[in-house]
Amino acid sequence: MTLLKDKVAIITGGAQGLGLAMAEEFVKAGAKVVVADLNEESAKAAAEGLDGEAFGIGCNVVNADEVQAAIDAALAKWGSLDVFVNNAGITRDATMRKMTEDEFDAVISVHLKGCWNGTRLASAVMREQKSGTIVNISSLSGKVGMVGQTNYSAAKAGIVGMSKAAAKEMAHHGVRVNAIQPGLIRSAMTEAMPQKAWDQKMAEIPMQRAGEPNEVATVALFLASDMSSYMTGTVLEVTGGRFM
Ligand SMILES: NC(=O)c1ccc[n+]([C@@H]2O[C@H](COP(=O)([O-])OP(=O)(O)OC[C@H]3O[C@@H](n4cnc5c(N)ncnc54)[C@H](O)[C@@H]3O)[C@@H](O)[C@H]2O)c1
Repeated sequence: MTLLKDKVAIITGGAQGLGLAMAEEFVKAGAKVVVADLNEESAKAAAEGLDGEAFGIGCNVVNADEVQAAIDAALAKWGSLDVFVNNAGITRDATMRKMTEDEFDAVISVHLKGCWNGTRLASAVMREQKSGTIVNISSLSGKVGMVGQTNYSAAKAGIVGMSKAAAKEMAHHGVRVNAIQPGLIRSAMTEAMPQKAWDQKMAEIPMQRAGEPNEVATVALFLASDMSSYMTGTVLEVTGGRFM
């Protein structure tokens, strides 16, 4: 595949789960990939395991300087930045009665501030190049709201608004910004869920199965590539039909 031939892509939270699946798809499509993750060791190991040009770097998306350092490293090595995926994420689930302020702040910070850092800093490079695509990973939780996720649902809905605002600011600079809302996808994040919660979610899915990380990664590849050249400010649901 040559959909991303010679394109340079940064994926935050790329050391495992959905982000790693994206790194694998992007490399297969010919991209040079930076795996940027809070866990530097895993980021490096993940990059080494990829079948193509890639490197891993430690990066906390909440810290703008660290996001800028990942972008600078990509530019220093490969000279451009064509794709930026804001994928890093955490959950701190609890009902409002039990959720602490720290749990609220942590989730808002990683998802919303992290996504803003990635979007604005990648945009700054891409507008000069007059090309680039940004893919922001929201969630179905941001569309419908989930019990025990007032923090996460707020952050993921916020990512949709942010993506649309950024898409409008950047469209005339040749930079596209789109979002994906995955449903229930098999990863470390969802496997930590109690069986009862898993079963309840499964019952809501018309396709009657959870998604696999590569089924989100191929949609990210579509949005990252020229296959979606006339799409910006959109939200694609990857949910097996859940809450359509
Ligand atoms: N798995 C699902 O069902 C599902 C559904 C909807 C949305 N999502 C979203 O997809 C994204 C990836 O989720 P996943 O299931 O692969 O989770 P995961 O927990 O398997 O992976 C998340 C990665 O993000 C990294 N990370 C966490 N905080 C970070 C930070 N501050 N800076 C940089 N990296 C950080 C972690 O180290 C980890 O490698 C998240 O944004 C998540 O909210 C997942």
